[in-house]
Amino acid sequence: MKRSNEPLIDAAAIQQRVAALAAEISTDFAGQDVVVLPVLKGGVFFGVDLARAMTVPVQLDFIRARSYEGDRSTGRVEFSIEPTVPLRGKTVLIVEDILDTGRTASAIVERLLESEPEAVELCVLLDKPAGRVVPMSPRFVGFEIENNFVVGYGLDYNEQYRQLSAIYTLEER
Ligand code: IMP
Ligand code: MG
Repeated sequence: MKRSNEPLIDAAAIQQRVAALAAEISTDFAGQDVVVLPVLKGGVFFGVDLARAMTVPVQLDFIRARSYEGDRSTGRVEFSIEPTVPLRGKTVLIVEDILDTGRTASAIVERLLESEPEAVELCVLLDKPAGRVVPMSPRFVGFEIENNFVVGYGLDYNEQYRQLSAIYTLEER
């Protein structure tokens, strides 16, 4: 498998969308104690660019979720890294690379609610609504895409391609 030569979403379009989302989030969350929480590893590139473009003060922490597909592909989620910044009373903004089945994000929301934050909101760079199994509608979405496998800007295929500044589709070769 190899990435496409032409990007599906180029670097300029991503950065333009990041700036617009950061402005929207900064307006919506003004006056709140915000924790930006990128999901390792894929959400880090987007999350850090987003935080840098935000005009409200934020704290930064991370969570790492791994989904294990069971025999019947029930998809259990485990956390190997959890935030250490206190979340009680905070507005927690989960930043994910992509929302597909929704299993990972819904498990993260459930886990974070245990910390009694003021609010938990979800911001995803990419949304594949066609893949949804668990109903989840993120408050902030970068781009809606078709049900293809994509790489770049945090998204990997076997840990490759994360560092690319654009989003590419994966192709048979
Ligand atoms: P979900 O739990 O099915 O919503 O899956 C979300 C996770 O699956 C993401 O955080 C990614 O790690 C991975 N994933 C889903 N679709 C893609 C894709 O097209 N490219 C790379 N990773 C993907
Ligand atoms: Mg991944």
